[in-house]
Amino acid sequence: MSVAEILETMAYGPAPEAAAPAQAWLAQHDGRFDMFIDNRWVPPRDGVYFDSVNPGNGKQLASIAQAGPTDVDAAVQAAAAAQPAWAALPGHARARYLYALARQVQKQSRLLAVLETLDNGKPIRETRDLDIPLVARHFAYHAGWAQLMSRELPGYEAVGVVGQIIPWNFPLLMLAWKIAPALAMGNTVVLKPAEFTSLTALAFAELVRQAGLPPGVVNIITGDGRAGELLVAHPGVQKIAFTGSTEVGRQIRKSTAGTGKRLSLELGGKSPFLVFDDADLDSAVEGVVDAIWFNQGQVCCAGSRLLVQENVADEFLARIRTRMERLRVGDPLDKAIDIGAIVAPVQLARIRALVAQGVEEGATLWQPSWACPTEGLFYPPTLFTNVAPAATIAQVEIFGPVLVSMTFRSPSEAVMLANNTPYGLAASVWSENINLALDVAPKIKAGTVWINSTNLFDAASGFGGYRESGYGREGGKEGLYEYVKRSSPRTRKSSTARAVHLREQADEATAIATSAPNGLPPLDRTAKLFIGGKQARPDSGYSLLITDPEGRALGEVGEGNRKDIRNAVEAAHAAGGWAGTTGYNRAQILYYLAENLSARADEFAQRIAALTGSDLGDEEVSLATERLFTYGAWADKYDGRVARTPLRGLTIAMPEPLGVIGILCPDEAPLLGFISLLAPAIAMGNTVVIVPSESHPLAATDFYQVLETSDVPAGVVNIVTGNRDGLAAVLAAHDDVASIWYFGPSAGAAAVEEASIGNLKRTWSAGERPFNWFDREEGEGEEFLREATQVKNIWAPYGE
Ligand code: NAI
Repeated sequence: MSVAEILETMAYGPAPEAAAPAQAWLAQHDGRFDMFIDNRWVPPRDGVYFDSVNPGNGKQLASIAQAGPTDVDAAVQAAAAAQPAWAALPGHARARYLYALARQVQKQSRLLAVLETLDNGKPIRETRDLDIPLVARHFAYHAGWAQLMSRELPGYEAVGVVGQIIPWNFPLLMLAWKIAPALAMGNTVVLKPAEFTSLTALAFAELVRQAGLPPGVVNIITGDGRAGELLVAHPGVQKIAFTGSTEVGRQIRKSTAGTGKRLSLELGGKSPFLVFDDADLDSAVEGVVDAIWFNQGQVCCAGSRLLVQENVADEFLARIRTRMERLRVGDPLDKAIDIGAIVAPVQLARIRALVAQGVEEGATLWQPSWACPTEGLFYPPTLFTNVAPAATIAQVEIFGPVLVSMTFRSPSEAVMLANNTPYGLAASVWSENINLALDVAPKIKAGTVWINSTNLFDAASGFGGYRESGYGREGGKEGLYEYVKRSSPRTRKSSTARAVHLREQADEATAIATSAPNGLPPLDRTAKLFIGGKQARPDSGYSLLITDPEGRALGEVGEGNRKDIRNAVEAAHAAGGWAGTTGYNRAQILYYLAENLSARADEFAQRIAALTGSDLGDEEVSLATERLFTYGAWADKYDGRVARTPLRGLTIAMPEPLGVIGILCPDEAPLLGFISLLAPAIAMGNTVVIVPSESHPLAATDFYQVLETSDVPAGVVNIVTGNRDGLAAVLAAHDDVASIWYFGPSAGAAAVEEASIGNLKRTWSAGERPFNWFDREEGEGEEFLREATQVKNIWAPYGE
């Protein structure tokens, strides 16, 4: 037989990775696992265990403890006891521990890869070449941030005890994404893996001990959603980090709302995969394979919606079908297979049900001619064509190897279709035309955009969603802020020097405001709302009387209502072109605002003195003017960065505006608080609907005269006066508002968080303690800019 003949007749034989070492490891534990608390194995108080099954053959792998209330409490207590000492370690010491964890993972990489494949059903090629190396990379990368924390994040400290809940699709990798940054920043953790895939987290627990971490720093509890719920509800946890379904994300938002717990959510997706007619079609076909058949399509950022330009669609789909015909589904431990097993029967049933619904709704189904193995949980790669954009399969996350394809004609239609989803996790753009690709990438509402590539991940690049895909980022420097809070602020020195003089000024201002010379009655003056660049009367037809601290009338403001907020949001939305202006342009306008405010400084200072009786009127105005300068300065300097991922190309982390921000201003420092929030929001390209201090709104309503003279485009700033909490509720429920900044009492902040459960809106509030707006450390800075932006990571490979 000639070599040519051999090559022609050669068939793939099975090439399974040896499972024996992993089986031996399971046997060492007698196939039964307790929880890892305080560096010890602790049996569940209730004595309940459940089975963990190998989805590749349906056989039981181990029994796993189901955590109950006492167990969760013990884990949280252990983490709380360990946290102060862990945070007090020098960054270098924490760096050594994290480095040791990275090394331990590398040393046990094959065991971990095989165990992961046995437990999850994903191909060994993926666990070996992607999951486990990236786990090590995350620990090593974050060892670096522990080392650099004091230098790179001055003024920040650990949040405390973090509860972390992860899914089953990348069990050990999600653990690393969660634990590494938390530990680096000085937090201790209680982590709960998904009930289908607990084994690698338990193997990791052993590595924690081997790496010599102090007891209580890492605690692993196991169990299903009930254990997760207990962890979320535990009062000793200061932050919850969750990855999983949008539905559970919403429940967690609900139970944490108003508790003061920090929250980051990484939820589902329905990510678009755009193929333009000038794409390298063969590469794009391989891209599709990676996008939707990697990990059986059980990937939150899977490119599950294929959008192809109409003139190449037939050709492209034909090549995809050819490629699908050659994919291999089978034993996950076989190094030659492409698609492994679905994680659990419930997930397989969900995939089947959604596929049946697709067929029922009229889409055309295509599957390869070959049959899947019958033992184990397998599903063939599947392609749907003739899909309507509103069809269930085009909108709902299937989380399986099912690709849904649609066509578009123009780039603008492609962007529209791509954004036609409540999700916003990732997108792939395929085109050989750099102009087109780099034009389309920023227009897609997604946290990550891959150009001519897909499913690339690295610790140096932040990952996370827009809209219903959640909030918060994991990885990169931006991911660190999820695990830190500001260190305690300095207390404000009381200003006594000019107290007497300013008190006199305030009285004089009140006199001017409440009476008129020549014995005439004062001229009636009612501040209106400011919407779409125009003064507007409130829809309610009601006004609110504003008084000074002695109860003397100072003026009236309109009482805004639901309709005014709707009009204001509409105006803010229509002014979305503001995001496309240059930072230089926005800076000019902020400086101009400062100039015009400063020209009327005395008037504003007196007004504040009259309103509040405070002796800080002119300090407020001068700081407000300075603050406008600060954000004018930042407008063209708050850059993104190029992340140092291993990609041959550029990974560009780009801060983008959120869209429309609803801002509820504090009562303290009525002008300065207002400016301190308004300026960063608009400097970053957002438009705002801003509700001034409820008790002292006149300081801000006067500001619209400054806005009118400073070239601020209509609709960029909309001011609605009235009841803070009532207006906040309307803003929070509005789908076109991207984020709510609430700076009132904590009960109101809780109500805003509750109102944002349904639409998973970002919220930001002062928390228990009001901000000290007079303090330059606290009243301005990067925290404000981070809240005004979200980071989009664009991966742009180059070269052949
Ligand atoms: P899930 O969201 O129920 O599970 C994720 C984690 O949350 C698990 O550790 C689970 O035990 C825990 N959990 C469940 N209920 C909880 C609760 N009430 N409180 C606290 N923790 C709770 O996801 P599931 O059921 O495994 O998968 C269902 C669907 O979710 C999938 O078909 C897929 O569409 C989506 N999903 C998305 C993921 C992503 O990475 N975006 C990951 C996993 C699932």
